Amino acid sequence: MTDIEELLLSRIRDVADYPEPGVMFKDITPLLADPAAFTALTDALAAVAASTGATKVVGLEARGFILGAPVAVRAGLGFIPVRKAGKLPGATLSQAYDLEYGSAEIEVHAEDLSSGDRVLIVDDVLATGGTAEASIELIRRAGAEVAGLTVLMELGFLGGRARLEPALAGAPLEALLVV
Ligand code: PRP
Ligand code: MG
Repeated sequence: MTDIEELLLSRIRDVADYPEPGVMFKDITPLLADPAAFTALTDALAAVAASTGATKVVGLEARGFILGAPVAVRAGLGFIPVRKAGKLPGATLSQAYDLEYGSAEIEVHAEDLSSGDRVLIVDDVLATGGTAEASIELIRRAGAEVAGLTVLMELGFLGGRARLEPALAGAPLEALLVV
């Protein structure tokens, strides 16, 4: 394990049985509260933005906002929020997706993305891949290209990477940590 991987991992807290019994929640708040770790994380994700040739950063509400906004600033790119339904005031594109029980919907301002944009999607955790898959669909429907997807942490045992392969169509999926 590299020094940065060790630093990041040491600042993620495992919380058993949250938000429901049997789930091990990955709490990133200790990492956010540590300026050295948060800076190292931002730099690492900004390096992904540079390597993919992204022209915009999309962050996925809510934790993808916390990580994605400083990455956009560090990489010198615009930040586009993909929000949970009903929060954006302008004309939006919406994408529904299935959860374990029920469904959810995310939205983006249609005017924020267009053809010619190469978008890096940033989120904290890749679990089943449902949220990321819906965001990829949203970006494509807006006419933009997905430059890649990057996350702090991939929960490998949930198979999100395999699920996303068709949607990513060769665009890279970079996880700083795989647990
Ligand atoms: C969490 C996490 C990812 C998503 C991953 O978001 O931040 O966005 O789940 O799960 P998936 O790969 O199975 O889709 P959530 O909406 O639960 O909470 P948040 O608003 O705090 O980001
Ligand atoms: Mg989230």
